[in-house]
Amino acid sequence: MNDFADWRRAARECLRHGIGPAAVRFTGAEAGQHLLLTDERDTNSSDPPVARGAQRVPPAFLSLAEAVSLHRDGHRWDLLYRLLWRLTHGEPHLLEVEIDEDVRRARLMEKAVRRDMHKMRAFVRFREVAGETGTEYVAWYRPDHLIVKANAPFFVRRFGSLRWAILTPDASAYWDGEEVRFGPGAPQSSAPAGDALEELWRAYYASTFNPARANLRMMRAEMPVRHWATLPESQVIHELLRNAGNRVVTMIEKQKSSAREFVPPAAALPELAGASQRCEGCDLFRAATQTVFGEGPPRARVVMVGEQPGDEEDVKGRPFVGPAGRLLDKALAEAGVDRSLVYVTNAVKHFKFEERGKRRIHKKPSGTEISACRPWLEAELEAIRPELIVCLGSTAAQALAGRDVRIGADRGRFLDHHLAPKLMVTIHPSALLRMPEGFDEEYARFVADLVLVRDFLKPR
Ligand code: URA
Ligand code: SF4
Repeated sequence: MNDFADWRRAARECLRHGIGPAAVRFTGAEAGQHLLLTDERDTNSSDPPVARGAQRVPPAFLSLAEAVSLHRDGHRWDLLYRLLWRLTHGEPHLLEVEIDEDVRRARLMEKAVRRDMHKMRAFVRFREVAGETGTEYVAWYRPDHLIVKANAPFFVRRFGSLRWAILTPDASAYWDGEEVRFGPGAPQSSAPAGDALEELWRAYYASTFNPARANLRMMRAEMPVRHWATLPESQVIHELLRNAGNRVVTMIEKQKSSAREFVPPAAALPELAGASQRCEGCDLFRAATQTVFGEGPPRARVVMVGEQPGDEEDVKGRPFVGPAGRLLDKALAEAGVDRSLVYVTNAVKHFKFEERGKRRIHKKPSGTEISACRPWLEAELEAIRPELIVCLGSTAAQALAGRDVRIGADRGRFLDHHLAPKLMVTIHPSALLRMPEGFDEEYARFVADLVLVRDFLKPR
């Protein structure tokens, strides 16, 4: 037994046979070693076998237990079994009793594990290594708890397009771009850094993860890491600083930024809007006030896509409520488009600006930011499935139709699109507002484009 699934299986068996917590010991060690279930059943035990139905436990226990199972404390399995036993033997609401000693301990362990997982996400630093088939990124990290496996999916999502390995004293994880694999831990003695880490990876771990050329025993014999035990940590750190230069990379710079990992799959609009508030898919979330998600009827026949929230939208948290939004509303009314059929959103969900004195001046989002944010827009369109997408301005056009579509040449035409039967581009109302002259003429053209939208929506 070396992980939660094993414990669950064993615990379920014990429970089924009515073996109480006092009669069983789940001995455990650190990850990588095996845990044994020692059945010390007292044959005189008066605990009656439990009925099958009684084994049902609240889902809250499973998530608690999963976290606790990653704690380094050797008594965690026994503690979990004790909780499980009590939950199924007359204390179904035990987890709500926060002052219960078992519950309190489990909660503390859970908290420690969750904190440790976040810490690892923030502090793992990768180093670039020339691998056999291209660049690889290797990190050495010492987590407090046994979280490598549980945290691996995060790193896969974050750095899915790179090949990386994370070595820790307990276990290591390797992602080859398609599959994540787990192997033995790296030595505890000192933190291998700089060239030492590279050497460790080359000489030992890279082959561990490459079954095609592994001669494990030999490699172990040649493992250079024995020497590290004798290297004082300060010296290793000194080495690291001396050698670091620009070879130490934060992969975050290398990795294409994207909202993808923050977007819940196949979700409805309210859930998407909620999740978008936590997006850190690119840097724009840092300076802006909040995510401004799209708004409108969930079955809208038309989705209008702008560029990004403006100053007022950023403060209010709603799209198109500033000057550009008011102009859009006016033009829609003049064109006879029923505003209640329209969902409005933006290609980029955070306000990008430059501070000039007290004013926040709008800045055009970059191609990287537009791409990073596209998953939100796609998720909105997939949830709504509109009949027509209207791109207001070049940023929206770039986000959905690519750079080849030009407002000047293509406006007012109905193009095919994979996220809706038709897509049309037109000018952005903010562009109209910025026009030094010829506003009336341009505004009339805008309304004319929106009349095409009205005609498109006419009941056939
Ligand atoms: N401009 C946009 O593109 N979107 C808004 O929400 C406001 C102004
Ligand atoms: Fe996420 Fe988009 Fe905001 Fe970037 S702009 S943080 S991708 S919501």
